Amino acid sequence: MNNNIPALIGGKKTRKSPPFKNRKTMSKEEKNIVNEVMDSDILSAFIGGPGEKFLGGEKVKSFENKWKNKYGFKHAISVNSWTSGLIICCGAVGLKPGDEVICSPYSMSASATSVMFYGAKPVFADIDSKSYNISIDSIEKNINKNTKAILLVHIFGQSCDMDPILELAKKYNLKIIEDAAQSPGIYYKNKAVGAIGDIGGFSLNFHKHIHTGEGGMIVTNDDDLALKCQLIRNHGENFSKKLNLKNFPNIIGGNYRLTEIQAAIGIAQLDKLDNILQKRIKLANFLHNQLKEIDGLDTYMPHDYIGHAYYIFPIKFNEKKIGIKRSIFVKAVNAELPDAEGWESVPLSEGYVEPLYLNPIYKYKLELGKFGQDLDRPNNSYSKGDCPVTEEMYYNKMIITPLVREPLTEIDLMDLIIAIKKIIGNVELIKSNYKETDVKIFTPVDAASSKNVR
Ligand SMILES: Cc1ncc(COP(=O)(O)O)c(C=O)c1O
Repeated sequence: MNNNIPALIGGKKTRKSPPFKNRKTMSKEEKNIVNEVMDSDILSAFIGGPGEKFLGGEKVKSFENKWKNKYGFKHAISVNSWTSGLIICCGAVGLKPGDEVICSPYSMSASATSVMFYGAKPVFADIDSKSYNISIDSIEKNINKNTKAILLVHIFGQSCDMDPILELAKKYNLKIIEDAAQSPGIYYKNKAVGAIGDIGGFSLNFHKHIHTGEGGMIVTNDDDLALKCQLIRNHGENFSKKLNLKNFPNIIGGNYRLTEIQAAIGIAQLDKLDNILQKRIKLANFLHNQLKEIDGLDTYMPHDYIGHAYYIFPIKFNEKKIGIKRSIFVKAVNAELPDAEGWESVPLSEGYVEPLYLNPIYKYKLELGKFGQDLDRPNNSYSKGDCPVTEEMYYNKMIITPLVREPLTEIDLMDLIIAIKKIIGNVELIKSNYKETDVKIFTPVDAASSKNVR
């Protein structure tokens, strides 16, 4: 009996030990500080108008101070999600209908939709095939007289190469908004990522390195932008009588405020970030070294002046070298490993996100129409073929793994490597014995009826 038969076609799994563990993120530090808030009975101290409560309560302020002091930012402004944060940044830099913003198509949807809240239009620049961040050449090709800003993303946790982007921004007089949702606490050439450009920030949603359930933190070194963010966060329109109207920005605010409980959790979480990053970098280095030996699975180590937070670990798949389709490879490796403990632990998945311009809102110009844009502008089709490198990654090459997360160990990762090697060693067997079935598309209706909602 051949013990090496892949589990996908009836053999035994590689890993016999328990599932890859999920993170345990809350401990006594969070509980103690949350209890302080509970005892105070003040769950939010914000008031949406002039007065000392305009900037929130004690925990909100101390969370912001702690964040800005740790990284040397001049300002930190907490918000109830990083999606809110991105929208606020777009308002603060003064986007308006007719403006164009260069965005990455390979990111979470809010990295581009945020600009539309102010009637501006996302223009997608292609990514670089090694860093997966937007490429300098592609940014420059897409700049025209309407371009107002670059909204870049430090995707998967890897900092963009900022110097050439800063140069471009200077040359064309553009604002830079940094979506550092996936890269808190890392540096580019000794500068903390987030406010190397004009403004940016971090997500504190449940899946991020550190979290407050939902939440976000805007950072900037610009006093004027910081004030605008504070106004947009908290019904800034109520200030128009108090502030000198000539200097008052044309701002309608929202309620994008973080609660005292969330801020308290954030204070405790921030103390854990360095340790989390250290662990992830160690696991990622281990994976790099192991995968280096495998022809057909490429990983890239950034230059040492480019920080990486390893939100997830990207692997570039080469179908010709491996010999089977990416989808079969991913299924086969996953089948070698036990069921995951929670959704975060699926060992490998393909593609990351569909290029954003293929989302129906762009493809059919739905939202853009609503905001009264010039829909017939040439050279902006939002159609397949716009960003070939992104499409190549999504359709054929990208495999991501979240397994560089604490509390996993190199022993866990070794099981992944053994599984990968087993599949590569049995490609012919899989080809002759496995028939791919159709993948079911998960719809919102399924989601509503599913017991297993994320
Ligand atoms: C790159 C990126 N941008 C923006 C967001 C939005 O952040 P939030 O979920 O805090 O609104 C996320 C969250 O997944 C993200 O990964």
